[in-house]
Amino acid sequence: MSDVSRRAFMHVAGVAAVAVGATSTTNAAVANSPRSAAGKVKVVSSANGLEATKKAYEMILAGSDPALSVVTGVGIVEDDPNDTSVGYGGLPNERGIVELDAAVMHGPTHRAGAVASLQNIRHPAQVALKVMLRTDHVLLVGAGALDFAKAHGFPEENLLTELSRKIWLRWKETLSDKDDWIPDPDEKEIPVAEFFRSRSIPIGESSVSGDLKIAADKSPMKFRRPTGTIHCAAMTGSGDFACTTTTSGLAFKIPGRVGDSPIIGAGLYCDNEIGTCGSTGRGEANLQNLCSFAAVELMRNGASPEDAGMEVLRRVAKTTEPRLRDKDGRPDFGLSFYLLSKDGRHAGVTMWGPEKFSITDENGTRHEDCKALYTRPPK
Ligand code: GLY
Repeated sequence: MSDVSRRAFMHVAGVAAVAVGATSTTNAAVANSPRSAAGKVKVVSSANGLEATKKAYEMILAGSDPALSVVTGVGIVEDDPNDTSVGYGGLPNERGIVELDAAVMHGPTHRAGAVASLQNIRHPAQVALKVMLRTDHVLLVGAGALDFAKAHGFPEENLLTELSRKIWLRWKETLSDKDDWIPDPDEKEIPVAEFFRSRSIPIGESSVSGDLKIAADKSPMKFRRPTGTIHCAAMTGSGDFACTTTTSGLAFKIPGRVGDSPIIGAGLYCDNEIGTCGSTGRGEANLQNLCSFAAVELMRNGASPEDAGMEVLRRVAKTTEPRLRDKDGRPDFGLSFYLLSKDGRHAGVTMWGPEKFSITDENGTRHEDCKALYTRPPK
């Protein structure tokens, strides 16, 4: 290791001391940190991250490092079997195997860690934090990421729940009427039916999704394949930032597909002098525009969080290829950003509203409206 690397490691020693263990956490090293100026602490997240913001906020007020706080916060959603876009219960790849992506970035040290295509580990954000703290690397993938997680004591487990398996099976059985997979004509399980119903698109609209044929009714339908995800970002009372993004990625993806979530500058980015940005939604659109880095740079040049977020959405809309546009030429996919700036402002922005984001600050834990580039009429 070079002297520079060694010094960088020493610099994060305070964070390392509070690294998330495979099964436990400790805040001893930062218990007396001067960070907690109540009233300025702010945590934002995607709509599914209400509890994550609350947890991270409480930890920061108690003196915890912001990276550990946001990673612990999103751990609540990684644990939730009913969130089919993150961690345990996340929808699998086309072979029925759950592959997770996650990253974390720490403002005070400008260090980052990430994992991609990680199988069998429920808390990829915690593994990403370990990559940041216990390696000289930023991104580990696939089998190497799994070996690394096991070396640090993370237990392996099957992440496919009965619900996510049944949703995947229904998708597989209705892909084609020319293969040998036959859907259950009596399938009436409400969560499975609701999953497809809530994402159905009227015939004739374009979509980036797959075709779906419902078993009992052979008429073809279109449905939107979800790219859920949770992003969570925090600013401490002394103006330090950290953020994390964790996801099971695009449902039924080609094995090995990696989205934006573990890519620093795309799925998340923070600069301790400026602010943070992170995303949920169609990862490919974000990867092609490196939106989180771009948004932080726009804030560096004076844009508010909302203006920076809207500008990167407009850039995505402008560069979207024709096959991904609706009949009115607008991007036919979801993409949202969550932003914090050094002066304490925040924003959630989205390609398609209405959409909410989560926030906890001195005014409590709540959902707020994202500013939308386009708005869908209510169904
Ligand atoms: N934004 C999550 C993904 O595309 O994988």
